[in-house]
Amino acid sequence: MKFRYDTNIIRNRLHLQMREMIWLIVVVMLVGSMGGVNGRKVKSVEGSFEYTAMNCRGHSASITDFGGVGDGKTLNTRAFQEAVNKLSQYGSDGGAQLFVPAGQWLTGSFNLTSHFTLYLHKDATILASQDINTWPVIDPLPSYGHGRDAAGGRYISLIFGTNLTDVIITGDNGTIDGQGLLWWQKFHGKKLKYTRPYLFEIMYSDTIQVSNVTFLNSPSWNVHPVYSSNILMQGITILAPIKSPNTDGINPDSCSYTKIEDTYIVSGDDCVAVKSGWDEYGISYGMPTQHLIIRRLTCISPYSAAIALGSEMSGGIQDVRAEDIVAINTESAVRIKTGVGRGGFVKDIYVKGMTLHTMKWVFWITGNYGSHADTHWDPKAIPVIENINYQDVVAENVTMAARLEGIAGDTFKGICISNATIGMRVKAKKVPWTCTDIEGVTSGVVPKPCDLLPDQGEDKIGMCTFPQDKLEIDNVELKKCSYVTP
Ligand SMILES: *[C@@H]1O[C@H](CO)[C@@H](O)[C@H](O)[C@H]1NC(C)=O
Ligand SMILES: *[C@@H]1O[C@H](CO)[C@@H](O)[C@H](O)[C@H]1NC(C)=O
Ligand SMILES: *[C@@H]1O[C@H](CO)[C@@H](O)[C@H](O)[C@H]1NC(C)=O
Ligand SMILES: *[C@@H]1O[C@H](CO)[C@@H](O)[C@H](O)[C@H]1NC(C)=O
Ligand SMILES: *[C@@H]1O[C@H](CO)[C@@H](O)[C@H](O)[C@H]1NC(C)=O
Ligand SMILES: *[C@@H]1O[C@H](CO)[C@@H](O)[C@H](O)[C@H]1NC(C)=O
Repeated sequence: MKFRYDTNIIRNRLHLQMREMIWLIVVVMLVGSMGGVNGRKVKSVEGSFEYTAMNCRGHSASITDFGGVGDGKTLNTRAFQEAVNKLSQYGSDGGAQLFVPAGQWLTGSFNLTSHFTLYLHKDATILASQDINTWPVIDPLPSYGHGRDAAGGRYISLIFGTNLTDVIITGDNGTIDGQGLLWWQKFHGKKLKYTRPYLFEIMYSDTIQVSNVTFLNSPSWNVHPVYSSNILMQGITILAPIKSPNTDGINPDSCSYTKIEDTYIVSGDDCVAVKSGWDEYGISYGMPTQHLIIRRLTCISPYSAAIALGSEMSGGIQDVRAEDIVAINTESAVRIKTGVGRGGFVKDIYVKGMTLHTMKWVFWITGNYGSHADTHWDPKAIPVIENINYQDVVAENVTMAARLEGIAGDTFKGICISNATIGMRVKAKKVPWTCTDIEGVTSGVVPKPCDLLPDQGEDKIGMCTFPQDKLEIDNVELKKCSYVTP
């Protein structure tokens, strides 16, 4: 972007006089020397790569050591799986890192191991195989009871791990490309026998890092940690067409202590979707998502939310701290989705600092979300929604400020909104707020909120809660690691 801007200036000014030409030469020299600085910053030695991670490794190998070929045509499934299997022997001896050099590395699904780092070169792309027969089918998640696209099993994720500890996927912004078009077409054509795969899924695991990689065109969800804890996600880019089906960005699902920072997501579904199981299966599994930090998320998703809580929230969602959220051309900001039959809870939600541009609803809570796992859901399983805080919100070009709908006989309580300035679009709806079966307070909110959220006065503008204590995951210090090509 910046570079293009600079060249445009240069191009436009070519016809200018001498004085400006000299000024330009100085600029060009400056730009040139900046490039040099960047080049040096990244690499001093040819074939040496530095990165930061929760843990560095004592052993290294390249995918080429296992017969991998990065020509975009050779199938590397066996190379990846053999590499991981071989390197798993170093688990008790400092662990191992697998380097993926520049190239297009076509592969089917492979499994990860503990004390393991997958490092992607900036020009490396892991390309998902388009041959559906190379995707093994695994059981549905116990907290869902069913697959989401089809009742039975689900295709295993491209990169999968279960019952692991200390797993890292990182790089200098290398790419993991799901080539999802084929799957989206099958989904729309109702031709799927099983639920679509995700790009990365890790189950029953602890100490996980995903950083500085780009996920492209996932068949469905992109990054899915489930039944796991101590998860760090930093500098992730996720890109999918805005109309691609269910291409959620990051879905922390029945996870504790997760931190998502500096993430840029353009997708066809919720940018971050916080979950914890589906109806009676999620209730009986009973594993909440809790202690989740989201900072500096930028989201573009015209048909979905920047952050969704639910709709599968039957194990409960508690203690979510979201700060510095930017959403552009996104349907809503932080949305709660639930319904009768879900059970569970969404409580202690803290949102501070949102900059929003072009949005249908800034505040959206849905108490009648359908989509049940099957017909056995319990009509007495009503969700508990309470202590939901939003503060410091600036929005522009908004169609409706809020649509807040609880459940009759199950009031959603403790909603607090303060310091929110919502600029309505020219063709905005006449009634900016609709509220039913909710209870809460507001302060310093424009336009004037609904009667169910009475204004406490300007002097109460700091009244909504945002926790001051630090979570354990915020104390994790990253180490400087390196990979040197032999
Ligand atoms: C990601 O990349 C940025 C920019 O190069 C760097 O500052 C940061 O330390 C990296 N983070 C991780 C966790 O790799
Ligand atoms: C990967 O893990 C899954 C689930 O545990 C298993 O079904 C599959 O066989 C594993 N694949 C390989 C190649 O080991
Ligand atoms: C993985 O962990 C889960 C939960 O602790 C356990 O039920 C399951 O048997 C474990 N699977 C394997 C392959 O060890
Ligand atoms: C990473 O790559 C993606 C896709 O090529 C790009 O959009 C994004 O700006 C890159 N991020 C960084 C930090 O370089
Ligand atoms: C209100 O929110 C804006 C935008 O985030 C922020 O700059 C300002 O400091 C906040 N005001 C108060 C009184 O907290
Ligand atoms: C405002 O939002 C509408 C859609 O709601 C969109 O068509 C229009 O382009 C937006 N205007 C600006 C200035 O972004």
